[in-house]
Amino acid sequence: MRKKIVAGNWKMNKNLQEGIELAKELNEALAAEKPNCDVVICTPFIHLAKVSDIINHEVIGLGAENCADKEKGAFTGEVSAEMVKSTGAEYVILGHSERREYYNETPEILKEKVLLALANGLKVIFCIGESLEQREANQQNEVVKAELEGSVFNLSEEQFANIVIAYEPIWAIGTGKTATSDQAEEIHAYIRSVIADKYGKEVAENTSILYGGSCKASNAPELFAKPDIDGGLIGGASLKCADFKGIIDAWK
Ligand code: 13P
Repeated sequence: MRKKIVAGNWKMNKNLQEGIELAKELNEALAAEKPNCDVVICTPFIHLAKVSDIINHEVIGLGAENCADKEKGAFTGEVSAEMVKSTGAEYVILGHSERREYYNETPEILKEKVLLALANGLKVIFCIGESLEQREANQQNEVVKAELEGSVFNLSEEQFANIVIAYEPIWAIGTGKTATSDQAEEIHAYIRSVIADKYGKEVAENTSILYGGSCKASNAPELFAKPDIDGGLIGGASLKCADFKGIIDAWK
């Protein structure tokens, strides 16, 4: 059975003290009331080591928002997958549309990052999703298929077991404009069928596919009720404990 996951992506928010505060609050809230799903928080690099010491890793997984496409060496300012792992993190987000768009991360670069993350024992939350223009031209299926083929379909079945997919339509990210639950279910089912064509039905059934894009406590229950939506990757609503907990509670 595939995992239900609610993952937070803090993006470039929270200084160290604020991040520690939020992690403590969430840790306490979930200690008091065990979640019905896996919970992951993905933080900026600078928070990882401290947050790792604060949280109960049996209840909250920790992830980075990126890692380098090189193993080690003279790459000033970069953070390797091995470094991420050494903080106690278990996950890394790769392929987020903001990285693809603002930092020119190509499918080839992402392929390298995915391989390095897996080689260092990290699980990858791999993001895919179409722009508004592509959705209006009804190209969303082609886009997500190409993104999978470009960066993760080179993996062996064993490696692919460590991939979580996050479908994040770019037009829904930070816009307050959520995909309807039917729109999301339709493409999630399609993504699962593409995975089934590549790796077989069993692998596809075991792959968690998260929805991301203006997901909040008010719309999470309807989204998560769909058979192919296995949870969410949450931006803005992961920055306050009560908001994030509200989404986690959608699995209750
Ligand atoms: P929002 O939840 O703020 O729309 O962001 C979604 C996202 O990009 C998560 O990775």
